[in-house]
Amino acid sequence: MGNYSALAEENVEVAPGHYLMTLVPEEKPARAEPGQFLYITVTGEYDPLLRRPFSLFDVSPGERQLKIVYKLVGRGTELLKGVAVGSRVDVMGPLGTGFDIYDEGKDLLVAGGIGMAPLFYLAKKLRERNKEVTFLLGARTKAGLLFVDELEELGVNTLLATDDGSQGFKGTVVDLLAAYLQNNGRPDRLYCCGPAPVYKGVLEKAKSLRLPVQISYEERMACGVGACMGCVCKPESRDSYIRVCLEGPVIKHIF
Ligand SMILES: Cc1cc2nc3c(=O)[nH]c(=O)nc-3n(C[C@H](O)[C@H](O)[C@H](O)COP(=O)(O)OP(=O)(O)OC[C@H]3O[C@@H](n4cnc5c(N)ncnc54)[C@H](O)[C@@H]3O)c2cc1C
Ligand code: FES
Repeated sequence: MGNYSALAEENVEVAPGHYLMTLVPEEKPARAEPGQFLYITVTGEYDPLLRRPFSLFDVSPGERQLKIVYKLVGRGTELLKGVAVGSRVDVMGPLGTGFDIYDEGKDLLVAGGIGMAPLFYLAKKLRERNKEVTFLLGARTKAGLLFVDELEELGVNTLLATDDGSQGFKGTVVDLLAAYLQNNGRPDRLYCCGPAPVYKGVLEKAKSLRLPVQISYEERMACGVGACMGCVCKPESRDSYIRVCLEGPVIKHIF
């Protein structure tokens, strides 16, 4: 899929330093699956040179609206924050390979911080299949726990953790996962997105329990479509290298 122009219908701060952007593409995308990402440039110029990847956070019925949630970290996201409602941005995607969904079995979702973005859309899709979904969501403080009410409105069993104990379990979401597994037994699979300490902790747990886990990785990217090898990595459970932008960003680990 090439690039296209999308209308910015909404660009609003939802928590300190975190924004929700709703984009309306010119044409309905061929597919928009949980775990896929949009590759966005706001200037149409060569500064910043590379596009910036953002997971699909939500998709409206009929795929009219594609939503992302982004955290301000640098120049690209600062530029995105400045996009006026009613103006247009240049988008590629949805790109990449997303999460595999199963009709059977218990799904446990684990997210740290902005890692909740792809898992929100996954949770929505799982609930549409009437699956029971438990979502462990962690952040440093209460202010970083995003879209908790919306998860509960979807009927998702949402358990919270904060490093400082300002809301929910006091500790990391990986600590919460350990406590949850002790009290609730094994799920059939894990899904995860978050910073390195979160996905490494979840991967470790999955390995020790021999649970399948799907992790959405946030590797730096260049072309975004599998051509430049700028994003290759070798996942722990694989023998070969993969391109995160094409075979990922969701990588399935089976132990
Ligand atoms: C597949 C994928 C999905 C993503 N989904 C989201 C999302 O839904 N919401 C969101 O807020 N962010 C998401 N990210 C991360 C987001 O793309 C980066 O935060 C963004 O590109 C930073 O651009 P910038 O110009 O503002 O920051 P830069 O000036 O490029 O960097 C500022 C700081 O952010 C760090 N950083 C930059 N890019 C990344 C990255 N890819 N991963 C980790 N750290 C990075 C840099 O090391 C630096 O410290 C995703 C990344 C990938 C690869
Ligand atoms: S960014 Fe070019 S191959 Fe992935």
